[in-house]
Amino acid sequence: MKILEARQDKILYIMGIGESFVNNNYVVTNQLTENQIVSLLEIYKKDTVWGTTRNLDDVKKMLRNCNFLALINSRDAKEIIGFARFLSDSVYRAMIYDVVVSGKYQGRGFGKLLINLLLKQDLLQSVERIELYTRDEKVSFYERLGFKKIATNLMRKV
Ligand SMILES: CC(C)(COP(=O)(O)OP(=O)(O)OC[C@H]1O[C@@H](n2cnc3c(N)ncnc32)[C@H](O)[C@@H]1OP(=O)(O)O)[C@@H](O)C(=O)NCCC(=O)NCCS
Repeated sequence: MKILEARQDKILYIMGIGESFVNNNYVVTNQLTENQIVSLLEIYKKDTVWGTTRNLDDVKKMLRNCNFLALINSRDAKEIIGFARFLSDSVYRAMIYDVVVSGKYQGRGFGKLLINLLLKQDLLQSVERIELYTRDEKVSFYERLGFKKIATNLMRKV
């Protein structure tokens, strides 16, 4: 993996697959090792309501087919601080999913950092609509980050 050292706001525009940005506290990466994927599974189980039953094989497949960023503890490469992913057609639509910060790191600015870094990714630069679905208690978290609640008939294939 290529490690890049530079200011994060510049580097994240040009971060290619398998490249990371590192500072004293955390590494920002768009590639995860097997151990880190296991750590991600633990966070899904512990810190989300929607991802508790996910398994290793399916999550690996998911990671191959979406774009994501993870914050890793720079002193312990196994430990994921936070994770978020998105699907984007790079022009019209993008959806953000699975925004999660590990319990012990919550309330320290990592969620905000994660969303701001995600929004700087190349594939989101010219997209007409960047959307996400969240629960009522998280609406104000996203409002602070520039999102607005919209009336929607979200439909799900059953
Ligand atoms: C939601 C979550 C990602 C926020 O991450 P975090 O690292 O705890 O949040 P931050 O410390 O970066 O907070 C950023 C700002 O949002 C505010 N905030 C954090 N959680 C909030 C909440 N639930 N409601 C309202 N505001 C919130 C903080 O006070 C902070 O405000 P400030 O910028 O004025 O200081 C995290 O709590 C989490 O992973 N929760 C469990 C999974 C989840 O529900 N994810 C969202 C699903 S869409």
